[in-house]
Amino acid sequence: MKRGDLVSSGDILSLLAARDGYVSGALLSRELNISRTAVWKKIAALKRDGYSIDASTRKGYRLLSHEACYGKPGIQSLLRTGFLGREMRFYESVESTNNVLKGLANAGAVHGTVVIANEQTRGRGRLGREWNSAAGRGIWMSVLLRPELHPANVQAITLAVAVAVCRAIEPFLSEEPGIKWPNDILIGGRKVCGILTELSAEAERVSWVIAGIGLNTHSAPEDFPPDLRNKATSLRQHIKKGVLPDRTRLAAEILNQLEQVYEDYLRNGPDSMLMEWRQRSATLGRMVEVVRGTEKVRALALDIGEDGRLKIQLEDGSIREIFSGEISLSYE
Ligand code: BTN
Repeated sequence: MKRGDLVSSGDILSLLAARDGYVSGALLSRELNISRTAVWKKIAALKRDGYSIDASTRKGYRLLSHEACYGKPGIQSLLRTGFLGREMRFYESVESTNNVLKGLANAGAVHGTVVIANEQTRGRGRLGREWNSAAGRGIWMSVLLRPELHPANVQAITLAVAVAVCRAIEPFLSEEPGIKWPNDILIGGRKVCGILTELSAEAERVSWVIAGIGLNTHSAPEDFPPDLRNKATSLRQHIKKGVLPDRTRLAAEILNQLEQVYEDYLRNGPDSMLMEWRQRSATLGRMVEVVRGTEKVRALALDIGEDGRLKIQLEDGSIREIFSGEISLSYE
């Protein structure tokens, strides 16, 4: 058997994915210990499989988009994390990544385990809603954390995830994303990402937290049900000229950013995360309508607390703090 037969396409992809620019054929051949012709044949096979690779006689090879590598090896090749996503399961189709991860968490899965699916057949949103999760249209991903946190502070994880997603998507966008309390990310006033945080806890201690992230990347307006069309959006509709959404790169970048925000939160406390959340907030300083059951009240959104509660001022001047589960909020 030739040495080239032992080298997989994944090995070449990992080397190409690790660099933004060109990688010379000589370097690939040296690193993998195969001939230049074997490198060339492997690249040709990758291109036949749909990977978008530019080949230049002078400069070598360059991966133009990671989208075709959407899967565990592609995503992991772009991780700069210590623990997040090192244990990962990728599925073509599942009911809900949160449900899959819950099963794994209860069976002892490690801190940082990630489940990602190309499609969810019963994606779940907050407040028992359905989450539209068609194949190829977004990132449907759940992250397992086992923080040393009091259950009352778990909402901080949702804030951290929202900050991390904003950091990851911002460089690709033509306009800034904003966070709508408690956990929606908006672009141009429409929702591009939702976060579903679930936990298992004893009285004083969290056993696990699962943060489910649903990020619409490729959906066209007609992919959303008619009642959501003017409320939902996708990255594709707001991307900088000439740049296409690339789920491999984005999923990895969300995990890279989340690990940073999370570690900073645990090490230094909530201040810098809260400050960034406030800067990115699309809610603070605005008049909002708080709907609680059949009651609707107007209020000014004043601030966010480290436990994730929103401080509001009602029209009679009184100040209240509200939890995420109990209200739904709309802007005027
Ligand atoms: C929301 O209602 O805004 C939260 C939506 C969360 C959707 C994500 S997609 C990945 C994970 N699996 C699910 O079933 N839901 C979350």
